[in-house]
Amino acid sequence: MSDIETLKQENRIFNPPAEFVKNATISGMEAYKAMCAEAERDYEGFWARHARENLEWHKPFTKTLDESNAPFYKWFEDGQLNVSYNCLDRNLKNGNADRTAIIFEADDGKVANVTYAQLHERVCRFANGLKSLGIKKGDRVIVYMPMSVEGVVAMQACARIGATHSVVFGGFSAKSLQERIIDAGAVAVITADEQVRGGKHLPLKAIVDEALGMGGCEVIKNVIVYQRTNANVGMVAGRDLKMQDVLANQSATCEPEWVDAEHPLFILYTSGSTGKPKGVQHSSGGYLLWAMLTMKWTFDIKPTDIFWCTADIGWVTGHTYIAYGPLAVGATQVVFEGVPTYPNAGRFWDMIQKHKTTIFYTAPTAIRSLIKAADADANVHPSKYDLSSLRLLGTVGEPINPEAWMWYYRNIGRENCPIVDTFWQTETGGHMITPLPGATPMVPGSCTLPLPGIMAAVVDETGNDLPNGQGGILVVKRPWPSMIRTIWGDPERFKKSYFPEEFGGKLYLAGDGSVRNKDTGNFTITGRIDDVLNVSGHRMGTMEIESALVANQIVAEAAVVGKPDETTGESICAFVVLKRARPTGDEAKQIAKELRDWVAKEIGPIAKPKEIRFGDNLPKTRSGKIMRRLLRVLAKGEEITQDVSTLENPAILEQLKQAQ
Ligand code: WTA
Repeated sequence: MSDIETLKQENRIFNPPAEFVKNATISGMEAYKAMCAEAERDYEGFWARHARENLEWHKPFTKTLDESNAPFYKWFEDGQLNVSYNCLDRNLKNGNADRTAIIFEADDGKVANVTYAQLHERVCRFANGLKSLGIKKGDRVIVYMPMSVEGVVAMQACARIGATHSVVFGGFSAKSLQERIIDAGAVAVITADEQVRGGKHLPLKAIVDEALGMGGCEVIKNVIVYQRTNANVGMVAGRDLKMQDVLANQSATCEPEWVDAEHPLFILYTSGSTGKPKGVQHSSGGYLLWAMLTMKWTFDIKPTDIFWCTADIGWVTGHTYIAYGPLAVGATQVVFEGVPTYPNAGRFWDMIQKHKTTIFYTAPTAIRSLIKAADADANVHPSKYDLSSLRLLGTVGEPINPEAWMWYYRNIGRENCPIVDTFWQTETGGHMITPLPGATPMVPGSCTLPLPGIMAAVVDETGNDLPNGQGGILVVKRPWPSMIRTIWGDPERFKKSYFPEEFGGKLYLAGDGSVRNKDTGNFTITGRIDDVLNVSGHRMGTMEIESALVANQIVAEAAVVGKPDETTGESICAFVVLKRARPTGDEAKQIAKELRDWVAKEIGPIAKPKEIRFGDNLPKTRSGKIMRRLLRVLAKGEEITQDVSTLENPAILEQLKQAQ
């Protein structure tokens, strides 16, 4: 039975604990259904009410949704606000000034607390510093930072002055960074001398220098360097500045730049099915609204909570559930610099115990690798830690297999914490389909039901609704406030990728397959339906990796497919044809290593193929099309049972069977 078949038959149901239901913001299924009904009845009214109740507007909006230029939807268009004001100043006014905003734990275990008043001051000083460099509303600023308070400060400071940030994950290579700088047309880069993870120091500033040295980045006027380790890094006179110098002598207050609700808060690059990463553009008003509502609904956030999202600010999860959502609702959150396995694989559990974390949000890959570690070493087993502070658990980024779900539920939640399996995407801005912890009966491996106001459905290739029980394409039928607004600089690609004509141009296409349970209507995500891979929750395009491989001068052709992996969900398997004879034995191993390192340089270490197989050719149809379907079967190590009669060169399959 395939994994999906197993999932479809998953019938264990776990009801939220009665105590949780009693105190929950959305308490019980009737409350959930009533909210869904309100949204159905008066869609715009529903969103307008929440936008008025949750955001502080400098100038109130009068129009909720403008669909006249669909799919370029506009929300709260004539309203004005500032995201940083809503996240910081509002807390100062609400009596939260001395409340801890961030509990920062460094890689080496050192802890530093930052209150809302302190965070506000640091953001204001830095915002003034950015202004003093001439950075202004509408400018794009790249943030290439380690997990740090300063990373959050950088993002908030951009928001404060109306500059659009584009955070690039610290694991991306110089080449990837350069491409993003050019595409965004950024005027400055905010970075650090080094990042520290798992006891290792990794250069960030040196990578920025390398990226800028590649050319095409002449628009960058300044590089601002946060000194994390005080490592000796090269500073280009007139261009590079230390963050502390940018902050020095700046005023501790900074009048926010009031922007229109649709003003682009950020651009975040993500992988699509074609080669070039897409700059997903998000708004200010609609985005922040959903960040807040999902903090309240999905995470049931309360003033007594210690919230911890383990994502990196380089991904969308770190944007919505570290840099914006928790601050906008005045929560106290843990921000962690390091990795889950250092100094040992008990680090997460130790930190939950130490900080009395109440809500813990992480990725299935992390859970799976910690299950393995706990099995191997009793000292890092969660049973060795006091996890009694926890009241809610969450997962994100990839499907969670029922076994990992059960382990998480039993060993971390001690069968007393609901698990919210949150399905969403860079493009959706926040959660879309997820259990509500005080309402929805949970089923391991299913993200259950859409949040109120999210009109998710499963349709066939022509956009028609499919009955429950039948697998199809996941779509969203109505625009929602935090949705992607466009692809930066490429509106046509935005339309084609997400609102294709085949579906009438009106349905948002998530790129995932899904099936709904016959009885409950619960959604289960069956995986991507395009050429996007999900390795450890990191999104990567197969074409992106193929382009990187063929950019190497010894490579003639390459095809990349995903292969199921016990820990990382999927792993990358590359089939490569060299310009020279097919290598075997040690030589093949050597070249495979060189190509892996090459990909790490072209994209980043996260894109390194786990497996590389060499062939004299790739399986192709007579018209020259590579048959990836067959490559997927080969990668899994399964026998080919499909019809191969249309293949030009069936003999090649035998050769590609062998892993090196
Ligand atoms: C996958 C991460 C199953 C899905 C927030 C989606 C999931 C892609 C889940 C987006 C989940 C995310 N269950 N699959 N709970 N969450 N995915 O843009 O394939 O990095 O399209 O956003 O991850 O990845 P992205």
